Order: sequence, then structure tokens, then C-alpha cells
Amino acid sequence: MPLVYQQNINAVTKIGVWHIAEEEDFFLKQVPLQRTITHWHKRLQHLAGRLLLKELYPDFPVGLIQVADTKKPFLENEPYHFSISHCGDYAAAMVSKEYRVGVDVELVTPKIELIQFKFMSDVELKISNGQQAAGRQWATLCWSVKESVYKWWGNGGVDFKKDIVIITISGDAGEGIVHCVFKDDRELNVHFLHFNDNYLTWVLTAH
Ligand SMILES: CC(C)(COP(=O)(O)OP(=O)(O)OC[C@H]1O[C@@H](n2cnc3c(N)ncnc32)[C@H](O)[C@@H]1OP(=O)(O)O)[C@@H](O)C(=O)NCCC(=O)NCCS
Repeated sequence: MPLVYQQNINAVTKIGVWHIAEEEDFFLKQVPLQRTITHWHKRLQHLAGRLLLKELYPDFPVGLIQVADTKKPFLENEPYHFSISHCGDYAAAMVSKEYRVGVDVELVTPKIELIQFKFMSDVELKISNGQQAAGRQWATLCWSVKESVYKWWGNGGVDFKKDIVIITISGDAGEGIVHCVFKDDRELNVHFLHFNDNYLTWVLTAH
């Protein structure tokens, strides 16, 4: 099953989600594998992320992707800004001709509750919009929000607990916006969508 979700965020920015159900050959006919990835499923996730870039913008030069020391993938001179994520059988990508972007997809699992204290402040642990179930749902959403912000930033050196502070959440359990402050001086609105027990989150700014 190919593209399961696509949204035109604005005139120059698109986001998409791919449900990975194809064999490796399907992807390799369309996009190159740019580094050795030994685990077959991680290889599929990587390839699906690359293919999504082309699904969103057919002229996306996937073969020219470089990877920075921070591991952030980029294109020289940035004709497109982009961000990729994968989790389980889903891959997500966001591409913009103009805006700096970050995306994340995260499956809700009980494991998150064991580590939530490492990346959530005491205040964040108590935040709820009344419709957001507490516990693992909220912790997964927080984690995904922070991963999106981390990728949007792209330069590493981010303390998830101190540098990304969640202030409010609006919307309902299905979709909404998480308002946060990055490194004490940058306000960010991270959008979220809840589907099949996954959270898709994304952020974009004019640099
Ligand atoms: C880099 C990181 C975001 C990737 O996470 P992951 O679990 O592999 O999750 P995802 O599948 O969502 O993302 C992978 C994609 O992120 C992208 N990516 C990797 N490093 C990146 C970076 N520094 N900036 C932006 N994007 C990055 C890549 O496109 C990668 O996919 P690809 O290798 O197939 O191209 C994550 O490993 C990380 O380091 N997070 C911060 C950890 C941290 O500081 N934690 C402290 C909390 S207590």
C-alpha cells in the first residue's frame, strides 16, 4: 500500500505518510540506497522515506542527498528543505521549497512510560487538554513533538527536557497544535495528527 496520507501544508510545502507493504525491489527500482543498512526492515524504512520525497515532489534529486556530521540529511544550496521519519511500517516525509521543516512519526507503546521522566519536565507531565489521555498517549506525543523540533533544528546539541519546553496543547485527541519554546527564545507551533495509534508531528518556520 503506497501513500496513505498527503497534505499540502502551503503553496510550497507538502507532507506525506507511506504505509510500507512493498518488497525492497519495489523501492530500489525508484530510489538508490546511499549507505549500507544491514537490517532489512531498517533498509525498507530508509528507502520508503527516500521514495516519499519523490512522491511529494517528483523532481526531488534523491541521489544528491548529503548527510551532515549531525546525521541531518540535506541538499547542497537547499533547493528543497526536507525531513524524514520512520516507525514500524510507516515512513513520513515533509518537503518545502522555502521553509525549514521537521517531521516525526511515532507509534504509541508502553515503553515510552519507562523513559518519559528523561525527556519531560514535571510541568509537562501534568499538562493535559482534557481530551488527551494521560500516560503513554501524552508521553508519545511529547516525544514526537521534541523529535520533530530536534530535526527541524538539525544542528544537534539539544537537551529535550531543558531546551524544548511545551507550554500548551490545543485541538482534540485526533489533531491539534502543541505550542512550545525552543532554547528559551523561539516559539514553535508543532502540529499533530493521531492515526492508527501513531502520532505524526511536524513543524515549519521561515528559517
Ligand atoms: C536523529 C534522531 C532524531 C533520529 O531518530 P530515529 O529514532 O532514527 O527516528 P526517525 O526514524 O524518526 O528519524 C530518522 C531520520 O531522521 C533524519 N535525521 C537523522 N539525524 C538527523 C538530524 N540531526 N537532524 C535532522 N534529521 C535527522 C534522517 O533522515 C533519518 O532517516 P534516514 O537515515 O533514513 O534518512 C534521533 O536518533 C536522535 O538523536 N534524537 C535525539 C536524541 C536525544 O537527544 N535524546 C535526548 C532525550 S532524553
